[in-house]
Amino acid sequence: MACESEKWVLMVTAQTPTNIAVIKYWGKRDESLILPINDSISVTLDPEHLCTTTTVAVSPSFDQDRMWLNGKEISLSGGRYQRCLREIRSRASDVEDEKKGIKITKKDWENLHVHIASYNNFPTAAGLASSAAGFACLVFSLAKLMNVKEDQGKLSAIARQGSGSACRSLYGGFVKWIMGKHDDGSDSIAVQLADEKHWDDLVIVIAVVSSRQKETSSTSGMRESVETSMLIKHRAKEVVPKRIVDMEEAIKNRDFPSFAHLACADSNQFHAVCLDTCPPIFYMNDTIIGCVEKWNRSEESPQVAYTFDAGPNAVLIARNRKVAASLLQRLLFHFPPSSDADLSSYVIGDKSILQDVG
Ligand code: DP6
Repeated sequence: MACESEKWVLMVTAQTPTNIAVIKYWGKRDESLILPINDSISVTLDPEHLCTTTTVAVSPSFDQDRMWLNGKEISLSGGRYQRCLREIRSRASDVEDEKKGIKITKKDWENLHVHIASYNNFPTAAGLASSAAGFACLVFSLAKLMNVKEDQGKLSAIARQGSGSACRSLYGGFVKWIMGKHDDGSDSIAVQLADEKHWDDLVIVIAVVSSRQKETSSTSGMRESVETSMLIKHRAKEVVPKRIVDMEEAIKNRDFPSFAHLACADSNQFHAVCLDTCPPIFYMNDTIIGCVEKWNRSEESPQVAYTFDAGPNAVLIARNRKVAASLLQRLLFHFPPSSDADLSSYVIGDKSILQDVG
């Protein structure tokens, strides 16, 4: 390691948006490598909105790896953090910063420690996929800092070991997480189906009904579902494989009626699996489903798709901006500004015209 002063710090900052699954991942076949029981498909949000910003720094004066999440120090001793750090470190290569006179060799990385500061601009662990953006950003920024020369697919397999859904946040647009067949997880990676410009009429509105942390984490919820639900087996084997094919087709053709039908049906089946779990798990808010279903049925074809992750907050996908404006009006009627609900809207691949209406 060459450097004029031992006081140097080298830093990288990255920003990664969260993603929302429209065909859900729920259930693992390998808990430690995080290998899923089915493929899943998601849409990555615009990086300006729900995202994690992470700064990673390295310095010879750091005597241990440390991390702060939203300003509070957290432990890095968990297996997920350790695995991501180990996988990235083992692929580190030489780094040279001529201006600062810093040269770090591949060998040096084994003895250098990192400090990580991560911020979410949205509620953490409230069913808005904070771990997805968080681990994707961690892996991406560490890979940049350590000059890791792997492609996005390989990085997605590392992020997957932090949190399954994180592998999908390494790409924009529509993304598929292929479950893979190998026991070592090397083929369980994310691939981009279409970029963010492909279908930028869509407007995603997120109704933050509650920013409280969820009672059952996704990790333990899906473990209990795999152990106790009969429905999850049927879902993974018989239902999802066909839905994946149909969803890919709907995205390719920008076919909103099929997209809406598949996304809503898949969200509903995922929550049916949660109810079929023993003890049952309740995540979502059904008032919003009732409103959207009624509205869609009163029109010639669906206007809005809904999907809920492991929390009560609704993700609503309007077919275009006009529909989004009307959706926001309806939501404000059901959840007036005096209530706890907070409505924010996001568009794919473009600036939002509807932000902060709540
Ligand atoms: C309902 O990726 O948070 O959001 O792999 O245990 O970290 P772990 O779980 P996580 O689960 C996300 C589940 C989901 C559906 C999805 O994003 O596909």
